[in-house]
Formats: sequence, structure tokens, C-alpha cells
Amino acid sequence: MIVTDAVRSYLDETRPEPDALLAEMRERGARDSVPILDAHAAVLLNVLARAVGARRIVEVGTAIGVSTLHLARALPDDGELVSFEIDRERHTQALSYFARARLSARIDLRLQDAAEGLTELEGPFDVAFLDGLKAEYADHLELIVPLMRPGGLVAVDNVLMSGAVAEGRPIDGWSGDRIATARAFNDHFLAHPQLDGLITPVGDGIALAVRR
Ligand SMILES: C[S@@+](CC[C@H](N)C(=O)[O-])C[C@H]1O[C@@H](n2cnc3c(N)ncnc32)[C@H](O)[C@@H]1O
Repeated sequence: MIVTDAVRSYLDETRPEPDALLAEMRERGARDSVPILDAHAAVLLNVLARAVGARRIVEVGTAIGVSTLHLARALPDDGELVSFEIDRERHTQALSYFARARLSARIDLRLQDAAEGLTELEGPFDVAFLDGLKAEYADHLELIVPLMRPGGLVAVDNVLMSGAVAEGRPIDGWSGDRIATARAFNDHFLAHPQLDGLITPVGDGIALAVRR
């Protein structure tokens, strides 16, 4: 948790309830220890994707599809979302949730390593969301930036790691090595010559930037 308990409680009280499908997905994720984007951050992604008029979205790290669903719901009927996941069981579960959400037509869910898959994509994309292995963020970012249209939005999850990145000490299992990697990535992201952005304390820390 990055904000105070009181702020967190207030935000939770005022946030709209997820629909039945999303609630079921989150329950399953909690039961099976699947890491899933914070609920506020998920709504933020949906709002931002709609604000930039997204028609094409790329995501790294589908897991069982919670963030994917929020992003796909921001797309028009003829929109497209490409999402990469390397875990076969999670990929299969996500496919079945998207079918139930009647969103399969706009979600191209690839069971593939993102670094490999990103090299096969053609831009331009309007929104990119990075939520795979944290140690691979820098590689994924370098592959994604050239695919983004000018004005396109890049979002990255877990950049504050439960506060460990700011405090510089292990919290919630984030080790010293991972904190150092995260700090280096954050510096790189914020100084990137083709991006203008910032780090927000939403969820576990979301970095946001617009492609120049
Ligand atoms: C934090 S979870 C994603 C959560 C999801 N975005 C959500 O909020 O609902 C990270 C996922 O990335 C997948 N992953 C890790 N490295 C990957 C890679 N190189 N290519 C594709 N998927 C990867 C993991 O298997 C895991 O399911």
C-alpha cells in the first residue's frame, strides 16, 4: 500500500463495484495467487484508453485477463488488443473469460514470450501496458516505443513496489536487487528521449507517459 490507510479506505468506498465477471476473476486470482492489477489502476487504464480514443492496444502480461478486460472495454467494436502471456494455464483461463465477456473478437491473446512477439508487431498502437516480468521492463519498453503513435500512451505497473522503491528497503517480498532494477527502470523511463511522463501513486505505482 502506497497511500495512507484512511485514503485507501476512502478510495475503496467510493470506487464503483466491479461487475460479476470481474469480481469472479479477482476471486479466482486471489485463490490461485495470480498477481492482478490494483482495482483503481485498472479503472484508470480504462479511463485513459478512452481519453486517448484508443483503437489499438498492446499489453505484456495478460495473466487471467483482468487488466486486458478493462482495456478491451475501452475499445470500439472494431478495435484490437494484442496481449502476451507465457503461462499456458493462465492463457487458457483468460480466453474463456473473454468469451464470456463477448470480447474475443477484439482480443488477440498470444501464448508467446513478449520480447519475441513484440518484434513481430506492426504499429501504430494508441496504448501500451507493461505488466510482465519486472526485470524485462526495459527490454519491452525499447520494443514498444517505436510501435506507438505520437501522442500514444505507455503505462507500466508496479513501479513503486509497495513503497519499497521509495524507501529503498525490502517490503512485501520485493528484494534489494529488484528494487535497484526498478529504480534504474524508472530513471530510464522518465528520461526517455521519446517519452514525456511521470510516476503516479495509484495502485502499486503506475508510470505513465505519452510518446512524443
Ligand atoms: C502481474 S501478471 C499480469 C497481470 C495482468 N496484467 C492483470 O493485471 O490482470 C504478469 C504476467 O506476465 C506473464 N509474463 C511474464 N513474463 C512474460 C513474458 N516475457 N512474456 C509474456 N508474458 C510474461 C506472467 O506469466 C504473468 O502471468
